[in-house]
Amino acid sequence: MKQRIQQLQHDSLAALHHAASLKDLQAVRVQVLGKKGSLTDIMKGMRDLSAEDRPLVGSLVNVFKDTFEGVYASRLSFLEDQEISARLSREAIDVTLPGRRSVRGSLHPVTLVTDDIVDIFSRLGFSVEEGPEIEKDFYNFEALNIPKDHPARDMQDTFYINDDLVLRTHTSPVQIRTMLKQPPPIRIIAPGTVYRRDSDLTHSPMFHQIEGFLVDERVTFGDLKGILTHFLNEYFGAGLQVRFRPSFFPFTEPSAEVDIACVICGGSGCRVCGGTGWLEILGCGMIDPEVFTAVNYDAKKYSGFAFGMGLERIAMLKYGVSDLRLFFENDLRFLKQFS
Ligand code: PHE
Repeated sequence: MKQRIQQLQHDSLAALHHAASLKDLQAVRVQVLGKKGSLTDIMKGMRDLSAEDRPLVGSLVNVFKDTFEGVYASRLSFLEDQEISARLSREAIDVTLPGRRSVRGSLHPVTLVTDDIVDIFSRLGFSVEEGPEIEKDFYNFEALNIPKDHPARDMQDTFYINDDLVLRTHTSPVQIRTMLKQPPPIRIIAPGTVYRRDSDLTHSPMFHQIEGFLVDERVTFGDLKGILTHFLNEYFGAGLQVRFRPSFFPFTEPSAEVDIACVICGGSGCRVCGGTGWLEILGCGMIDPEVFTAVNYDAKKYSGFAFGMGLERIAMLKYGVSDLRLFFENDLRFLKQFS
């Protein structure tokens, strides 16, 4: 019995020393002290010993157990330390590595144009107003002096939702909504999405406009000319040639279209300006008294002007984009060029 214990002590202490992992170490412990372990077996056999041998063997067992536990504990802390340092070196962070840069997005060219134009007009005292894209026939047409079956309705290929609702064909309904909401004086700029049944190289069924209008006492066509000329020079560059051509809109009288000297050829004539040297850039005019009547403004006391322009067209000219569809394809190779 004594020999068995010595042998076990020898073998199990060696096994503890050789245990290379926490798992191995645990296995040795179970082999020795577990329910079916070798020491447990020896202790079971103690019943069969004589009364005088029993205390002797008992103390041998106790000494062994203490020794085993001691060696076990020191091996355990050694292996734990080893595990921690292994993990530390495995998960080490190299603080000298350069960080990962996050990708920065860029603004859509139409947003850039909108922001720049709004910026110029804010400095002239205009504030921004918005209106709904699903619009009542009244605001989109009727109050703008375009009654039902007026031929001018053909100018704007309208998406009708029902008899009374349309996808707005221009930003001009914001004029009506604003004037019904507040009395003069008014200086508003209104950017937004508009819709027309039109689709080719230079037309998209969804596009963007910016509307501007000013109402006060004694506003003249001179004011309109002055403000628009100033705006176009700010936006396209000082010294830009500008001309006003007579035109027609039901909601302005007199009306004009504004051309700028071609930004591509400088006025000598090219493919973009169709050889004329001029580019049409916006529509404008003095607000028609009929419109003032529709919003209960005193047409004798007040006058004002309004203008509207297509933002994709301006973006195309400003950034030299030749195909309108590029604005709506979300091709990153295109969009990234505006960051
Ligand atoms: N609403 C007109 C259009 O879409 C543009 C315009 C606005 C003309 C304001 C005159 C005054 O064509």
